[in-house]
Amino acid sequence: MKRALVPALVLAVAGCREAPEDRQTPSTLDAHGTGAQRVATEMWVQFGAAAFGFAIVVAFLAVAVFRSRRKRPADPLADTGGVSWVVLGGIVLPIVVLTGLFVFSARNLSALTKPPKASAVEVQITGHRWWWEVRYPEQRVVTANQVVVPVGQDVLFRITSDDVIHSFWAPQLQRKMDAIPGTVTSTWWHVTKPGLYRGVCSEFCGLEHGRMQFMVQALPEGEFRAWLAGATLPARKPTTPSEKRGEEVFTTSTCAVCHTIRGTPAGGDFAPDLTHIASRPAIAGAQLPTNRGNLGGWIMDPQHVKPGALMPPGKLTGPELQSLLDYLESLR
Ligand code: CUA
Repeated sequence: MKRALVPALVLAVAGCREAPEDRQTPSTLDAHGTGAQRVATEMWVQFGAAAFGFAIVVAFLAVAVFRSRRKRPADPLADTGGVSWVVLGGIVLPIVVLTGLFVFSARNLSALTKPPKASAVEVQITGHRWWWEVRYPEQRVVTANQVVVPVGQDVLFRITSDDVIHSFWAPQLQRKMDAIPGTVTSTWWHVTKPGLYRGVCSEFCGLEHGRMQFMVQALPEGEFRAWLAGATLPARKPTTPSEKRGEEVFTTSTCAVCHTIRGTPAGGDFAPDLTHIASRPAIAGAQLPTNRGNLGGWIMDPQHVKPGALMPPGKLTGPELQSLLDYLESLR
């Protein structure tokens, strides 16, 4: 037993350390959104109250042990003032503390649930096995596993699912919200600091639940508007012969059956829209940084990265793949 335990522990510790530098571990306690700040405050207050209660109980226990050692009363059943301690510490104090916590939590819950009166932008989220579709309906922008929001503004999310129940959660920004097929739920964000945040699916949804993530790019207002304006444009036209060949490979192969690249004949709506894929921070449910090597590996052998993913392996020759990569890398 011991022999098995040691290597298991070593592996567990090594596993924690293996995470690449760029792979942030999102913590609700490292909050950068007003919603998540409320959740973090709630956590600390609850923890503080529990720790305070625990400290009192331990202190009384210690006093009782030492006093009973020092002197033993002649009649152990005689009341020497113990009843008032029980009434005060066992009934009055818990009622006061728990009522206070209840009111505090109910106010937080209400504040977290109430959507803003007016939002700077509305985003529609659709959960798919195992990726997130992200739409800005007013601007007709579509992206995948990439949520771009302005800092310091209220952003309204309308969330649903295409297949099973998922849960949309950026732990540093706001509480989680279920994505339910046939129903639209809503939540809102108010991000306080520009940066790149990681979001996850927080409801078990099948084989690749753990690899159904998204990246949040929180940008200052001006940069956000510029991004939005760029994202409304159709795909950039290929310029070099290799890029042209790559576009041809894309539109004439199975890629176009599932994926859309706006401005080309590829109009599949089963998988992520790839119109501006090269400008996204990550691919494959935010599992791989967007770069040539990862794109190539993902296209040729998606099952290696995400076993069970609905994307079939690419059947391309070497030159076809290189041209396709030239083209995809140009789609900024
Ligand atoms: Cu989607 Cu878990």
